[in-house]
Amino acid sequence: MGERPSLDLDRSQPLSAVVVGASGDLSMRKIFPALFALYCQDLLPREFHVVGFSRSQMGNDAFRGRIMEHLTCRYVPGEKCGELMDAFLARCTYVSGNYNSVDSFRQLHTELQHLDPQGRENRIFYMAIPPFLFLDVAHALADAGLVHRDGHGGWGRVVIEKPFGSDLASSNQLTESMAKVFTEDQTYRIDHYLGKEVIQNLMVLRFANLIFDPIWDRNCIHDVRISWMENLSLEGRAGYFDEYGIVRDVMQNHLLQMLALVAMEPPVALNSHYVRDEKVKALRCVAPLTLNDVVVGQYTAGAVEGHQHSGYREEEGVPAGSRTPTYAAAVLQIRNRRWDGVPFLIRAGKGLHTNMTEIRIRFHDVPGNIFRTSPDLLTANELVIRVQPNAAISFRIMNKVPGLGIKLAQSDLDLSYEAAFGGKIPDAYESLLLDVIKGDKSLFIRSDELAAAWQIFTPVLHELEARRVEPEKYTFGSEGPPAANALAARFNARW
Ligand SMILES: NC(=O)c1ccc[n+]([C@@H]2O[C@H](COP(=O)([O-])OP(=O)(O)OC[C@H]3O[C@@H](n4cnc5c(N)ncnc54)[C@H](OP(=O)(O)O)[C@@H]3O)[C@@H](O)[C@H]2O)c1
Repeated sequence: MGERPSLDLDRSQPLSAVVVGASGDLSMRKIFPALFALYCQDLLPREFHVVGFSRSQMGNDAFRGRIMEHLTCRYVPGEKCGELMDAFLARCTYVSGNYNSVDSFRQLHTELQHLDPQGRENRIFYMAIPPFLFLDVAHALADAGLVHRDGHGGWGRVVIEKPFGSDLASSNQLTESMAKVFTEDQTYRIDHYLGKEVIQNLMVLRFANLIFDPIWDRNCIHDVRISWMENLSLEGRAGYFDEYGIVRDVMQNHLLQMLALVAMEPPVALNSHYVRDEKVKALRCVAPLTLNDVVVGQYTAGAVEGHQHSGYREEEGVPAGSRTPTYAAAVLQIRNRRWDGVPFLIRAGKGLHTNMTEIRIRFHDVPGNIFRTSPDLLTANELVIRVQPNAAISFRIMNKVPGLGIKLAQSDLDLSYEAAFGGKIPDAYESLLLDVIKGDKSLFIRSDELAAAWQIFTPVLHELEARRVEPEKYTFGSEGPPAANALAARFNARW
């Protein structure tokens, strides 16, 4: 983005990427493959090491074997890929230890010293662990002398993944406690949606194309709808999910980030401070949600493509009477001059009929439309930004159907990413890890941004819990609870 550094980086400074929680799902599925993808593209420093740390007992060979299962040859097909894999894996080592043990982290320190005896290297500490371990690990890292190097050596940066707390107070507390070890400057809070190509493109679409600017406000836009839908259940994450629910897991972070990018004013310039200043400003204009603005749902047993799924409360690891929402829809109002009166409808759900994330921006009907007497259905223009699957941007217009006489039909001006840019669209983690290495924080969540996001959701989350609101039931594989349609209809909108 703008002042984001070019793809050249200082490759002479050694780098160690320490992945804490290296045995886990995120590490194996996302972090190591992303590092390998950067390695294949020659985007990492020449002296580069990966050190995995977690409790599981395994030697370097077993660790490398597990990583290898997840590496792909996307960037370098053919024989060369095997050579690159071997070279990459040779740079990966593993230390087994406990997350709250300073001795374990001293062992990690010894390993890092062994890899770079002069101690000049930059260090990334990627916390790929459940959030309740963040503070233990941060303190153990500091006590083992890994973070503060008294002005010697390179920089140290910490990467953490949501959830950052479970409400405003717990999030603030986590931020303050982490700040005792890592400064805000050293802290990279990932929302991996911000690394997705289509999401990164939102600012380009808005601010590098003149045509959108004059129509991007309450005068032309009727409503904005942001949907995140999954046809999956819990994927073995019942313990985590039941504690957090869909509002904390998806809405408060991914959906709000997308909303901020749609709603923000143009930044002064493209650097991380200005971009995030504008996002914070937009989020601070959002009125905190009340129960009246929200629908919550929970799936019951049902089938998708002939596959039977049990209901949420029957899932292994979910308490029998759990009220945790697996679906939520909400309407947000942005009280500023650009957006006052435009409903921003957001919804997120698991166990639905489809797997899809998209933003739909619907424009007003044409005033005094001369075709209004036409028997053909007139529909308003709509800009659709499809994040997944099949990333695409399309614009719905009314068109004359070729032929004699006037017959109208809606058509789409379509930009499919696959067709336009080929198959080499980087995974979000590749882009985000490269930014961590370069020190570009544009795509990471700043602490005030996090607080502004929690401010919107905390009152309603507390109210849902205090009143023990029973989520509306919906069948697995359906479109979600009917109340979500009623919510949209209140604003003359349809999902
Ligand atoms: N997976 C994803 O796609 C995804 C997406 C978004 C955000 N995240 C976030 O990324 C972080 C890591 O996610 P993950 O899915 O990789 O987590 P995970 O597999 O549940 O945990 C990572 C590692 O942490 C250790 N661990 C797990 N539970 C523990 C416990 N109760 N006590 C001590 N150690 C424990 C385990 O390693 P050892 O037993 O070997 O120590 C495990 O391999 C979490 O903050 C998660 O919320 C993950």
